[in-house]
Amino acid sequence: MNHLLSTRDLSVDEIVQLLELADHMAEINSRAVPKVPALRGKTIASVFFEDSTRTRLSFETAAKRLSAEVMTFSASTSSVNKGESLRDTIETLTAMGVHAFVVRHKSSGVPKQVTQWTNAAVVNAGDGWHQHPTQAMLDAYTITRNFGDKESMAGRTIAIVGDIKHSRVARSNVDVFTRMGATVVLVAPDALLPSSIEGWNVTTASSIDEVVGHVDVLYMLRMQRERMDESLVISMKEYTDLYALTQDRAARLAPHALLMHPGPINRGVEMQVDPSEVPGSRILQQVANGISVRMAVLFSLLGGEISPAITLGGDA
Ligand code: CP
Repeated sequence: MNHLLSTRDLSVDEIVQLLELADHMAEINSRAVPKVPALRGKTIASVFFEDSTRTRLSFETAAKRLSAEVMTFSASTSSVNKGESLRDTIETLTAMGVHAFVVRHKSSGVPKQVTQWTNAAVVNAGDGWHQHPTQAMLDAYTITRNFGDKESMAGRTIAIVGDIKHSRVARSNVDVFTRMGATVVLVAPDALLPSSIEGWNVTTASSIDEVVGHVDVLYMLRMQRERMDESLVISMKEYTDLYALTQDRAARLAPHALLMHPGPINRGVEMQVDPSEVPGSRILQQVANGISVRMAVLFSLLGGEISPAITLGGDA
């Protein structure tokens, strides 16, 4: 693997291997000193042109736990504000000796474009509506490790609820979940579904009440207003009436069912129950797993042929 731009870059076997590598990383993260020398001498630049809490901090933490140097770029405090282009920014950082770029941008396709301007590895940390591959990987990790079937999601039903249309998380997750064998139901008003879902291998439902009692995973999404250039066709009241998770609906989840959300949560909008009061909530576990999964991705890109068993064994 030279880059991770899309979940489609990975076969199911490669996804399973990455999740197994994440198990090694989770063991490291459980140690008193969660640090190994695996990527000593490597420099990883996190280059975010769009806001982030979870993705940026978990990539930076993942890099540090593997002993890489971390270079943090923030567009709002950079020479981009003096007119420097994206290309010049990437070439400048490459000249400083970067081995991998972690890139987030509001426009689809920017991480792929970055690969044309550097010899370093590039990881897509979210590009427009297009893809968020490490979110899908950490979500697959969370689901398979909770249900104990590490190689497949066969037989599981996962409902993804909310603003599917503007969601890169939905696109990445549908691809990974369906290829790993899950049945995926998209729950959204027509106005918040993509214009075509041909080839997605999913079904749809028009209210959360149709699915809440039957699913193994209820995956809630935020309304992504920053990506909407049209007014909503339905009112916020209609949206929350049909698609929000209320206390009553949460009580109808099956005892084994998981509640997930990529974050950030909009409390009082899609989440009208305190998730800490839902026994099946794995929302903070998703965040913790994100570090292990991103360690696995960075190690796979930069660790070369070095055996994980040797490189990951000792303290830094
Ligand atoms: N899930 C996610 O991408 O969160 P951030 O926007 O905080 O990185």
